[in-house]
Amino acid sequence: MRCAMLVAMSLSLWACRSPPAAGTGPTQTLGPGSPDALRSVEAFASIPEPAARSAALFSEATKVFLHPRCVNCHPNGDSPLQDAGHVHDPPVARGKDDRGVPGLLCTSCHQDKNLELARVPGAPNWHLAPRSMAWQGKSPRELCEQLLDPARNGGRTHEQLIEHVSHDALVAWGWSPGHERAAAPGTQEQFGKLVAAWLQTGAACPEGAVR
Ligand code: HEC
Ligand code: HEC
Repeated sequence: MRCAMLVAMSLSLWACRSPPAAGTGPTQTLGPGSPDALRSVEAFASIPEPAARSAALFSEATKVFLHPRCVNCHPNGDSPLQDAGHVHDPPVARGKDDRGVPGLLCTSCHQDKNLELARVPGAPNWHLAPRSMAWQGKSPRELCEQLLDPARNGGRTHEQLIEHVSHDALVAWGWSPGHERAAAPGTQEQFGKLVAAWLQTGAACPEGAVR
């Protein structure tokens, strides 16, 4: 009715179009959302600009990448971390090959599954990520650039990175950490899809501090 009146009053037709929804435009993002709830790829479909969508997908995936269940094994120092990022107790060292030192290997204590009674977490081939793959203290942007850098990502292609996050057993442990440890948010499948969608939409990195 109002439009008909406007037309009758010879105002230009565009006045009848609905106003753009708040926040649309090339720089639209979704906002961070809850750190404990992982949104799925579909939630990002409303971001029209591919680079902004790609970067937003990566930011969502950092709720997992930068979760203590992952960072505790991707420390930048000599020792694994535990709980919310405290130094591993008892004290242990990464050793030459990230598997501990002779006499005190990671697998002296960590088995291929969680030991609930002893509270020792476990998964096959338990050892630290190499220093080049340290994530402790990294911003989402720094982590993004590192994951894309063959010199620091174990030479992985995009496909190999997707395969690793979707199926690796140490990654999977993040969702069944045992002994009342908080699991990473969402599911491994959902996380794998976010990483795949990030890479397939252009592997853009979020804005942020670069050191
Ligand atoms: C002497 C036994 C022992 C050795 C050796 C050992 N750990 Fe542990 N580790 C533990 C115990 C026990 C816990 C659980 C501590 C707790 O939750 O109270 C633990 C916890 C952890 C966690 C914390 C998981 C989380 O997110 O809370 C990580 C990561 C870890 N160990 C990695 C390693 C790595 C890597 C090595 C080898 C470099 C290693 N550990 C060597 C006994 C050991
Ligand atoms: C028990 C220790 C441990 C835990 C826990 C762990 N990782 Fe890792 N991660 C490793 C090791 C070791 C490597 C190196 C594997 C290799 O390159 O062969 C690695 C490598 C990676 C890589 C490849 C890095 C790159 O730059 O390409 C990704 C991605 C990754 N982990 C994701 C995760 C995620 C996500 C979690 C948490 C859900 C996690 N990891 C938890 C030990 C761990």
